[in-house]
Order: sequence, then C-alpha cells, then structure tokens
Amino acid sequence: MHAVRIGVVGYGYWGPNLVRTLIDLPEVVLVVVAERDPARMQEIRDKHPQVEVVVSDHKQLLSMELDAVAVVTPPETHFSIVKEYLENGLDVFVEKPITTSADDAAQLVTLAEERGRVLMVGHIAEYHPTIRALKEIIDSGELGPIRYIDTVRAGLGLFHPSLNVIWDLAPHDISILIHLLGAAPTHASTSAIACVQDSVEDVAYSAFTFPNGVLAHSRLSWLDPLKMRRITVVGSDKMVVYDDLEPHEKLKIYDKHVTTVPKTDTFGDFQFAYHYGSVTSPYVEFEEPLRIECRHFAKCVIEGSQPMTDGRSGLRVVQVIEAAQESLRNQGSQVAVGSASSTVGARAIDVTNGTESPARGKTGALDHIKDNDRSVLGPPSHEVDLVDSNGGGAPGDRPEPVAW
Ligand SMILES: NC(=O)c1ccc[n+]([C@@H]2O[C@H](COP(=O)([O-])OP(=O)(O)OC[C@H]3O[C@@H](n4cnc5c(N)ncnc54)[C@H](O)[C@@H]3O)[C@@H](O)[C@H]2O)c1
Repeated sequence: MHAVRIGVVGYGYWGPNLVRTLIDLPEVVLVVVAERDPARMQEIRDKHPQVEVVVSDHKQLLSMELDAVAVVTPPETHFSIVKEYLENGLDVFVEKPITTSADDAAQLVTLAEERGRVLMVGHIAEYHPTIRALKEIIDSGELGPIRYIDTVRAGLGLFHPSLNVIWDLAPHDISILIHLLGAAPTHASTSAIACVQDSVEDVAYSAFTFPNGVLAHSRLSWLDPLKMRRITVVGSDKMVVYDDLEPHEKLKIYDKHVTTVPKTDTFGDFQFAYHYGSVTSPYVEFEEPLRIECRHFAKCVIEGSQPMTDGRSGLRVVQVIEAAQESLRNQGSQVAVGSASSTVGARAIDVTNGTESPARGKTGALDHIKDNDRSVLGPPSHEVDLVDSNGGGAPGDRPEPVAW
C-alpha cells in the first residue's frame, strides 16, 4: 500500500502533538489539518509548511481522497464527526473518550464493524512502554494474585467548563486498569466535589470492583498542589509502584508481603508474618507512547487490522465512566457497569467483555445523561478551549504537552 494519507481535525492543545508525530512517520503523509480557529490555522502553516492543506472545517476532508483521519476535537464533538467519517468510508482515530455517552459509542462501534473500517481510540497509556512492562510483570505471576490497585492522577490542572474531572482524566486510568487486569470492572462507586466551578466536579474518588475480586481505586484531581501520576499494584507476594514523575526508575518492585500464620497455642488465632525483601527497578526502554500509538494506527490502516484500543475498548471505558457518573448522582452507591445498557439496533454490546449479547432494552439512565445533565456533558455543540490538565501548570497557562 502507498503511504497512509491522513488528515487531522483539531489543532488546539493536543492536536499539535498528533500533527508533530504523524509528520515524522515515514509510513504516513499528513495531507491536511482542519482547525476552526484562524490563529491556530496560521500557526500550523508557520510551524508545518509541509502540511499540504489547512482548512477550517472537518467536512472539507471528505473530498480529499484520504485513507484515514485523526479526530482531536473536544469530546462532545466526537460522535458526529467520527460518524460522518465512518459513513464516508474513512478509517478513524479518535481521542479519548470516544464519545460522551455509551449509546453513541456503541453506534460508532457498530457502524465501523458494518462498514469494515478501522476505529481506534486514543487510550495512549496502553502504548506506554512502562505500562506494558507493568502488565508483563502482572501476567508473569511474579506478584502473586493481585489484591488491589490504586491510581492517582492529580495536579493543579486546568478546568474544563462543562466536562468534569471524571470525563477528562478517568479514561486514562480506566483503560489502564482494564488493560492490566484483562477485564472490565463490574461495579463503580464515586464521590466527587466541585470546589472551583458550580456543578463541575474537579476532585473525584472512584472505586471499581473487578470480576476476580480485585478492588481498584482512582483519585482524580484538578486541584492538588502536587502533580502525581502513580499506580500501586499490590499482589499477595510482591507489590509494584509505578511513578511516572520519576525521571529514571519509574517502576519499582517491592518484595514485601504480609501473611497470617496460625498461633500454635490457640486454635483459630493468627499472627502476622511480615516479609521484607529487596526493591528492584527493571530497565524499561523508553519510546514516546504517542509515536507508538500513531505507528499502530498507521499499521492497522495499512493492514485493515483491529487496533489494540479499538472502538469496543473505547465503549467499555465510557460505560465505566457512565456507571461512575450514575453513582455520583446516587451519593456514591455501587452501580453495576452496563446497567445503562447500550443497545444498537437488534444487538447489544456486552459491557464487561466487549462481546455481543442478546439485545436488551434501553434504560433511562443514558437519556437522563443526554437530556438533563448538561452540567456533566455540556450542550452537544459546546466548544471550549479545553486544556487537558495532564500537564499541570498554573491556572490560565497552557501547560507543556505531556506524553499522556
Ligand atoms: N491523550 C492525551 O493525553 C490527551 C491529552 C489532552 C487532550 N486529549 C484529548 O484530545 C481531544 C482534544 O482536546 P484538546 O485539549 O486538544 O481540545 P482543544 O479545545 O484545546 O482543541 C480542540 C480544537 O478542535 C478545533 N475544532 C473543534 N471542532 C472542529 C471542527 N469541526 N473542525 C475543525 N476544527 C475543530 C477547535 O477549534 C480547537 O482548536 C479531547 O478528546 C481530549 O480528551 C488527550
């Protein structure tokens, strides 16, 4: 096949990273970038004169004989833009979250499958070499059975005016948890608070229950003095801490565990045995996750193969977020993931493992989100200068782009 002819839509905060990376790939020709803001359009022309065309609207890409597009616009716009591209026979990469409702995500999954198109979601963490190394450690059994996972994604982030911190940051951690554990959670419960803007939660604590009894907890915050990106995995034999802010030894394996041993003198009584072993830090060769992600997309387009983070994985993440949102509305009670099922035509897409199951009726929960919860989703056409808070930085600054 010839080099993949790609167009990028959206050159706001994250789009420039996609553009820079795609231009650099030999298997890709970046033909066009669509961006509505005239100042940003000029910036593309100045910085990347090799981009053949710069246009102001995504629809203009439809007549440009492209193989694929990368959609890097605000989440509220993903559904309509991606749908249009899939209907017109293009392969699509879309940034996380795939959509702001599971119903919409399921429609895109079905559409891509019916049309035989590649649909890939930008769950970038799954392409991160350290996350991959962490998964290998878990899968090797070195840690023993996993007991719980704790994730922290915090900093003094920039505030989205309508999407809350869960929609903004949780896609990363939910996709990581599903990737590491090889299963989607069955239940979610969430507590959150809106400290800075009314009705837009900026701090959230979510607990997720996995089918094998593993408990996971995520702390998300746009309002923390310290930037933190940390994952702790505790197994019955060993424990691992992944600290993304560590410059070198990001991954540390702690040979520590605690067991109970029966007391010899009293039946049914136990004492605790602590094991303290060494701490090791495996070497992980670094390559920019965004580059790995973009190369993977190009390969899938060339081969017509299924991406690792396909539409179904995007759907699963949105279904977990919807359960977390539902829990938030119900004072933190446990909500079954998929209790608001996504039904597309005669088929329903199973929440927990992504397989098809007999069609189920729509529940009202999704409608409730779509119609009533503008504080969460914003109006469908809402467009904001969203700055992902991944980069931290002072309020009002555009933080430096980060890897994920
Ligand atoms: N992978 C990551 O770590 C990461 C980091 C940041 C953002 N993101 C994701 O990237 C996406 C974009 O986020 P952002 O922070 O760059 O948003 P942004 O608001 O800064 O940029 C979006 C740009 O899209 C343009 N746009 C919107 N609709 C358009 C259309 N129809 N035609 C042409 N241009 C259009 C806007 O003018 C804007 O400049 C979101 O889905 C976000 O979640 C991912």
